[in-house]
Amino acid sequence: MVRFENVGLRYGMGPEVLRDISFGLAPGSFHFLTGPSGAGKSSLLRLIYLALRPSRGLINMFDRDVATLPRADTQDLRRRIGVVFQDFRLIEHLSALDNVALPLRVAGMSPQRIKSNVSELLSWVGLTDHLDSRPATLSGGQQQRVAIARAVISRPQLLLADEPTGNVDNEIAMRLIYLFDELNKMGTTVIIATHNEELVSRFNHPVIHLEDGEASMVRSPEKEGV
Ligand SMILES: Nc1ncnc2c1ncn2[C@@H]1O[C@H](COP(=O)(O)OP(=O)(O)OP(=O)(O)O)[C@@H](O)[C@H]1O
Ligand SMILES: [Mg+2]
Repeated sequence: MVRFENVGLRYGMGPEVLRDISFGLAPGSFHFLTGPSGAGKSSLLRLIYLALRPSRGLINMFDRDVATLPRADTQDLRRRIGVVFQDFRLIEHLSALDNVALPLRVAGMSPQRIKSNVSELLSWVGLTDHLDSRPATLSGGQQQRVAIARAVISRPQLLLADEPTGNVDNEIAMRLIYLFDELNKMGTTVIIATHNEELVSRFNHPVIHLEDGEASMVRSPEKEGV
C-alpha cells in the first residue's frame, strides 16, 4: 500500500532530515513509528499524506508513483487516507459533532445516519457530553479525541496518526489504540507515530524506528501470555 525506496527529505536548503528511508506497509498491516523528538516522524507521515514531496528516492502509494502523480489524483488518493495531525487541525467554528461529520457529509451520507454514526463514535471515545462543544472549549485531550474520531469515521483504507495519545491518560490511550485495532481488523492499514513506549510494548505490532535520519525495523516485545 505504501513503499519507500531510498527516500531523502530536506526542508528548503537545510540538511536532510530523512536519509535513505526504505520500508513498506502491506495492506492491512499495523505499524508503530517511534524515535526521539525531531527524528522526523511527522515529516515521514507528511510524505505519506502527500503534503510533502521527497527530495530524492521513490514513494509508491496505492500502486502509484507519487513523483508523476497529477494534482487531481493526489486529491483522490488523499480521500482514502485518514489523518490525525499532531496539532489536531479541527475547524474552530464547528461543533465536535460537525467536525467529525465532515468526511461523511463529503461522502454524501444522509443527515440522520451521520448524526447516529457520529454520536455513537463520540460517545465511545468518552465525549457524549461534548457533541455540541466547539474545539476552543475542549481540553487538549478532548480535542485530540475529536480529531481521532474525524480520522476514523469514514473507515479510510490507510490511517496515519501522529502522536494520537499525547494528551490523554493511559486508560484513554489504550481505548484509542483499541479503536485503531478494530479499524485495522476491518481492513484499514494503520501507522501510528508515538513516544509512548508502554503502549508500543503492550501491542505486538512491528515498529519502524527513526533515528539520525535513518529508519530501522524492530519488533515490539511479545505480548505477555500470547
Ligand atoms: N517546516 C519545516 N521547516 C524546516 N524544518 C522542519 C520543518 N518541519 C520539521 N523540520 C525539521 O525536521 C526535523 C524533523 O522534524 P519532525 O517534526 O518530523 O520530527 P518528529 O519526529 O515528528 O518530532 P516530535 O517527536 O517532536 O514530534 C527537525 O529537525 C525539524 O526541525
Ligand atoms: Mg512530530
